[in-house]
Amino acid sequence: MCGIVGYIGTDHAKEKVIDGLRRLEYRGYDSAGIAIPDGRKIRIVKAVGELKNLEAKASDPTFDAPVAIGHTRWATHGKPTELNAHPHGNMDNSIAIVHNGIIENYQELREWLTVEYGVKFKSETDSEVIAHLIGLYYDGDLLSAVNKAVADMRGAYAVAAMAAREPDKIVAVRKDTPLVVGHGSGFNMIASDVPALLKYTRDVYFIENNETVVLTKDSVVIFDEKGNEVERDIQAVEWKADAADKADYDHFMLKEIHEQPRVIQDTLFNRLNPDDSIKLDDISMTKEDIDNFNKIYIIACGTAYHAGLVGKMVIEKMTKIPVEIDVASEFRYRETFIDDRTLFIAISQSGETLDTLAALRDAKERGARILSVVNAVGSSIARESHDVFYTLAGPEVAVASTKAYTTQLICMYLIGLYMGSTKGTVGREYYEFILNELKELPDKVGRILLSEEKYKKLAERYHFNDHVFFIGRGLDSGVSYEGSLKLKEISYIHSFAIAAGELKHGTIALMDADSLVIALATQDRLYEKMVSNIVEIQARGAHIIGVAKEGRTEIEKTSDEVIYIPNCADEVAPVLAVIPLQIFAYYVALERGCNIDKPKNLAKSVTVE
Ligand code: F6R
Repeated sequence: MCGIVGYIGTDHAKEKVIDGLRRLEYRGYDSAGIAIPDGRKIRIVKAVGELKNLEAKASDPTFDAPVAIGHTRWATHGKPTELNAHPHGNMDNSIAIVHNGIIENYQELREWLTVEYGVKFKSETDSEVIAHLIGLYYDGDLLSAVNKAVADMRGAYAVAAMAAREPDKIVAVRKDTPLVVGHGSGFNMIASDVPALLKYTRDVYFIENNETVVLTKDSVVIFDEKGNEVERDIQAVEWKADAADKADYDHFMLKEIHEQPRVIQDTLFNRLNPDDSIKLDDISMTKEDIDNFNKIYIIACGTAYHAGLVGKMVIEKMTKIPVEIDVASEFRYRETFIDDRTLFIAISQSGETLDTLAALRDAKERGARILSVVNAVGSSIARESHDVFYTLAGPEVAVASTKAYTTQLICMYLIGLYMGSTKGTVGREYYEFILNELKELPDKVGRILLSEEKYKKLAERYHFNDHVFFIGRGLDSGVSYEGSLKLKEISYIHSFAIAAGELKHGTIALMDADSLVIALATQDRLYEKMVSNIVEIQARGAHIIGVAKEGRTEIEKTSDEVIYIPNCADEVAPVLAVIPLQIFAYYVALERGCNIDKPKNLAKSVTVE
């Protein structure tokens, strides 16, 4: 999705804004632009394609100032052309804006502005109406003009605006689209996401829905919907400045895969007291609350949903409470049975996924208790939940989620253990057993990463397959979905995941010598059944890569290749089994020459329905 960066300080805003935009590249974009006040008007430079094109076009040293706003655009309304790129100006470019989101009534506004005021539009975008509306209402007070423009707009937006006559300020406003302010000594910044700010500051203000903020180089003033000034504490973000750098890796995805031992460790140990009890100091769920729940919904999208598939089985087993799981976009439009005895768990890396957020709001309104599992600190989902369980994965830049998924799994175990032990459905022995298994995971993931070369060779051998199937039973079926998504999203291979027991009800018809099947058999209880499924596929001539625990060698007889993961309890096996699948997907995509960190058609943060 689009990225916004604004800077106001004492010098060289251009460099900082372009640098910030570069840190938001992971969101996906097809064009970019920057605006700088220059006397009576605002100069705007835009370029299609990568940021280096914008940098080249904006390289004139006289094109700089202590204040600038910039944007990376992911085309929605209108093709990725220079004219459609942001920033957009009003007719005489005395106002410039950047926008992330969608203005739903833009056609109506466009017509009104054209007919009533003779406005000539330069682009096909919905966003341009914002610049003209602000221009229309502007009489020397940018804040008031922005507020009036917002009153005319319907939809979702984060907007940053500048006026040539007030070069000492940036005014920004948000509704349902993230916006964060970075505060520094002698400068302030505004951005769509924290990584854009990290090089300059870690002190941030998260802007809430329907709030407007005025930035000058020395002040940040936030107003609520009614125009009242809001007191907001600065939050210190703990992410390191280099957390969003690629370091020595060729791709963010590979770097993030390799970060998993550390982030799993961080997520787990941050929640443990010295006596191994689970620490939920910032979570207000009491024993009474837990005893009161009679159903749980887990709602998420994509990879986060796949973490929920595992979460459902784990939490059900540990709490004996029925858990329903659904993708947010479906959940929102079906009959659900939410009341004040419902625990609603939203899982989201970005904390901004619109469908998940909308489902959460609906559940909250109907009385559910909201617990979110989120990576992005201060994001909308985090702020609107009763309780937040943060995954401490650090910024995830590659579009394909890896470390967020494994840390989400860790949260699922901790939530299950905490609720189960509080409720009495998890006994001391089982609690200690699972906790010890969890504590061994960072080491075991590290061991799997040592075999990277092996998965790379498998990728070299099998990257030409056009159809790949992932199968598994129980917890392995959840991991199959995630393995399949990783492969298809970055390598563009058609891959398909299915519970292994379902194969013979239809999908086995597709199996032949051209098929590659990745068969997960990590669950001891279901191992023999999986081996029988593999035999059935083998009989159709398909190539098989089995995934099993060390020592379970029977699978070798029926598979072409076997990937072994370290021995572990069945419950925690998903955290280990997914790692080789992530690496396999990475190297297959590399073999096929794909744009690994930014796959086509995908964006990191999906803030539209
Ligand atoms: C896939 C991937 C997506 C996200 C999904 C939800 O690798 O990253 O499927 O998991 O868009 O995003 P969040 O977790 O930010 O809500």
